[in-house]
Amino acid sequence: MKKIIVAIDGHSSCGKSTMAKDLAREVGYIYVDTGAMYRAVTLFAMRNNLFDAEGNINTERLEQLLPEVRISFKLDPETSRPMACLNGEVVEQEIRSLEVSQHVSPIAALPFVRAKLVEQQQAMGKEKGIVMDGRDIGTVVFPEAELKIFVTASAEIRAQRRYKELQAKGMPADFDDILKNVEERDYIDSHRATSPLRQADDALVLDNSHLTIEEQKKWLMEKFNEKTK
Ligand code: DC
Repeated sequence: MKKIIVAIDGHSSCGKSTMAKDLAREVGYIYVDTGAMYRAVTLFAMRNNLFDAEGNINTERLEQLLPEVRISFKLDPETSRPMACLNGEVVEQEIRSLEVSQHVSPIAALPFVRAKLVEQQQAMGKEKGIVMDGRDIGTVVFPEAELKIFVTASAEIRAQRRYKELQAKGMPADFDDILKNVEERDYIDSHRATSPLRQADDALVLDNSHLTIEEQKKWLMEKFNEKTK
């Protein structure tokens, strides 16, 4: 069967990563969560006090320090799921905090950050056989991807999902704060100058507001089989 690149883009918290992870496991492909990479850079900036009280970034300093930032993925030996690492340290849990979510959009808008991460992502997909999720995978990272999916769902439903996710992990969660964060990130992600979130012309749209995970899986598997047969 021919190996392809699957690009899954869309709004935040609409289940892209669950979908991408499940597909990759099912078909034996590598899975890359590019949002985790932007989150890891954000964590690095937070740890190095590169944000002021208003959330402004010391971009000059970040650009100087960026060559020191090494992002990689390591498989969790128990779950076989990839965990994001920052300079070798597993930061999978920390990068999912609301604090990181609140600081990540301006980091992801910086052209020098995007240039570094996009280059790494393109290298990861050289051999194909990869499922990558993010915001610009079908438009910038792999415009030639054989299968492009653009996922969306209503902001309320996405906030509800994230709220449940944080609660299940025993992390602090307030629904209104989360909804505000989801809406703010939609706005920034779609309006930034560099690689704004937009649907690729040849992407298939999936609104999963009212789909179960099983229904979504079935839909995606069908699309995958069509492209690889
Ligand atoms: O998918 P996520 O919520 O973990 O992504 C975190 C942030 O990173 C989000 O605000 C958008 C940004 N992002 C991006 O700009 N480009 C990507 N390819 C992936 C994520």
